[in-house]
Amino acid sequence: MKQERILIIGAGGQIGSVLTEALRGVYGNDNVIATDLRPLPPQNGPTDTLDALSARALAGAVNKYKATQIYHLAAILSATGERDPLWAWDINMRSLFNVLEVARNKKLHKVYFPSSIAVFGLEAHRTDTPQFEVLIPETVYGISKVAGENWANYYCKRYGLDVRSLRYPGIIGYQSLPGGGTTDYAVDIYHYAIKGEPFSCFLRENTPLPMLYMADAIRATLELMEAPAEKIKVRTSYNLSGMSFTPGEIAASIRKYVPDFQISYNPDFRQAIADSWPGSIDDSAARSDWGWKPEYDLDGMTRDMLFHLKNRGQ
Ligand code: NAD
Ligand code: SER
Repeated sequence: MKQERILIIGAGGQIGSVLTEALRGVYGNDNVIATDLRPLPPQNGPTDTLDALSARALAGAVNKYKATQIYHLAAILSATGERDPLWAWDINMRSLFNVLEVARNKKLHKVYFPSSIAVFGLEAHRTDTPQFEVLIPETVYGISKVAGENWANYYCKRYGLDVRSLRYPGIIGYQSLPGGGTTDYAVDIYHYAIKGEPFSCFLRENTPLPMLYMADAIRATLELMEAPAEKIKVRTSYNLSGMSFTPGEIAASIRKYVPDFQISYNPDFRQAIADSWPGSIDDSAARSDWGWKPEYDLDGMTRDMLFHLKNRGQ
C-alpha cells in the first residue's frame, strides 16, 4: 500500500462515491477520507462532513487527517448551474481556491481537479475537438471550469503545486446517480429500461455527445494521478474520450438487450447546452503523454450497465 493520505471533497456524488472505493483499493481504507457537504452513508473507511467553501474547515480537515493529497470533486454541474449562475460560480470557484491555497500552504503532494467538455462552446470544432481550442463556453459551469483550469495551471507553474486534471465527458455508471448535468439522461435511460418503463429524453434524438463509462473514468483518473510528473505536460486539463453517441443510438443499443424498450424525445433547456458542446473529442495528448486508452464502447457499456442494474434489482 502506498503511504499517502487522500482527502476527497464531494465524495458523496456520482463520481466521488465510486472513486473513493477505487482509491481505497490502492491506498488502503483508512488512508482515504471521504468528505461531503451532506453526511455520507457508512462505508469501508473514514468519512466526515466538510463544506469546501470554508477555508478554515478545509485546513482543519487536512490537519486532522494528515492529508497529503486532495481530490476536489465538489461542483455545481451544467444544468443546475444555469438555474442560479452566480451561486454556481461562487461554489465552484471559492471551493477551488480554498483547495489550491491549502494545498500550496501545506505543501501537499498532489491535487486532482476535474474539468469538463463544458469548457468548449459554439466557436470550438464540433468533431474531434482538439486539446488546444478556443474556450468560450455558454454555461456558467463551463466558465468556472475554464477559469479553474487556468488557475490550476497557474498554481503549478508559479508555486510548483502538482495539480492534475481531466476534462471528463458525460460519465455513465450503474453505481450512482448523476447530480444535475446535461449528460444525465444517459444514466437515467438504463434505469427506465431495466424497470421496463418508457423513457422521456430531454435531448433530441440526433444530439451527439462525448461519453465515458465509469470504469474507464476511474481508471483514467488513477492512471493520470499515478503517472510520473514529467509525463504530465498539460497542466490546464487533458481532453478525455471514450465514445460518442446520440440518444437515438443509445436507445438502439439498449433495444439489442431490451427489445421492447420505448423512448420519446421532449427537449428542454438542456438541449441548448448540449448543442454548444462537442459531439466528439480528440484525446490524443492524453494517449501519448501518459498512455490513456478507453476499454468500453457503447454496446460493451450497455451490456455491463444492464447486467449490474438487473443484479442489483433496480
Ligand atoms: P455530483 O453533483 O454528483 O457530486 C458533487 C458532490 O459535491 C455532491 O455530493 C455534493 O453534495 C458535494 N458538494 C456540493 N457542494 C459542496 C461543498 N460546498 N462542500 C463539499 N461538498 C459539496 O458531481 P459528479 O458528477 O460526481 O462530479 C464530480 C466532479 O466531476 C465535478 O467537478 C464535475 O464538474 C466533474 N465532472 C463530472 C461529469 C459527470 O458526467 N458526472 C462530467 C464532467 C466533469
Ligand atoms: N456531465 C456533465 C454535465 O452534464 C459534464 O460536465 O454537466
